[in-house]
Amino acid sequence: MTTALITGSTAGIGAAFARRLAADGHNLVLVARDTKRLREQATELHDRHGIEAEVLTADLAEDKGIEAVADRLADRKNPVDLLVNNAGFGNKGRYLDVPMADELRMLKVHCEAVLRLTSAATEAMRERGRGGVVNVASVAAFVPRGTYGASKAWVVQFTQGAARDLAGSGVRLMALCPGFVRTEFHERAGMGTDNIPGWMWLDADKLVATALHDLARGKTLSIPDPRYKALMGAAKLVPRGMLGAVSSRTGRKYGPQ
Ligand SMILES: NC(=O)c1ccc[n+]([C@@H]2O[C@H](COP(=O)([O-])OP(=O)(O)OC[C@H]3O[C@@H](n4cnc5c(N)ncnc54)[C@H](OP(=O)(O)O)[C@@H]3O)[C@@H](O)[C@H]2O)c1
Repeated sequence: MTTALITGSTAGIGAAFARRLAADGHNLVLVARDTKRLREQATELHDRHGIEAEVLTADLAEDKGIEAVADRLADRKNPVDLLVNNAGFGNKGRYLDVPMADELRMLKVHCEAVLRLTSAATEAMRERGRGGVVNVASVAAFVPRGTYGASKAWVVQFTQGAARDLAGSGVRLMALCPGFVRTEFHERAGMGTDNIPGWMWLDADKLVATALHDLARGKTLSIPDPRYKALMGAAKLVPRGMLGAVSSRTGRKYGPQ
């Protein structure tokens, strides 16, 4: 039986990864900040699928939290075969409206934690000659979109570069770039969603199924939907200024501060 560690497992895309991997018979290490919610999730997945689910409470915006998860990934006696770096969030507001502390917290969770956890995991995986890492980025990586888009662009570049460097080691890395998915993300960030057209919403379970299929095929970048593949193809042809304006009009409506 293999083990997968998922950060941000209790909601949205992370919870969809947990459901699918448990259904496929993988043991899980579930990571988020809310211990009660993690325990309820672990019990439910254990009871439904008969898998072992460990709970690891960690805040990935803190060094202590990152270190606790890195230590678990480095544990050679209880190896982790698949790491899903999924935890993430949006900040409420545009550049200069967001407090600097929140911008830095985003870089810590989206970039520093991803770097440190991927490194801890892949070192151990390389020794064993097998393993996989999915780093959840976003299609926002490909459009000018503040610190959020910049952090996700880093995730894509870092993941594809690391995949190149580890080619032939048996360790696979893939950046996953979803479009809009109905999760807790937008509400947590205080974003209105009524200006996002219905056709742009993706289903989290289908997204995860496609992502795991793409990882198995050895892809290093997954944009898991034909609609977004076409949009990202077209985006390459549009001037950056126009792209930023269109992107900002969609899904960046913030409620009162
Ligand atoms: N939803 C979308 O439209 C969309 C589109 C593209 C990409 N994404 C990306 O997909 C990933 C998952 O987003 P989602 O939409 O599923 O969000 P979500 O529903 O808000 O879930 C976020 C998860 O991350 C955990 N989390 C948040 N901050 C954390 C921290 N500091 N340390 C540890 N865990 C933390 C949350 O649990 P706790 O609060 O208990 O910690 C929760 O389990 C993110 O990286 C996001 O950028 C989302």
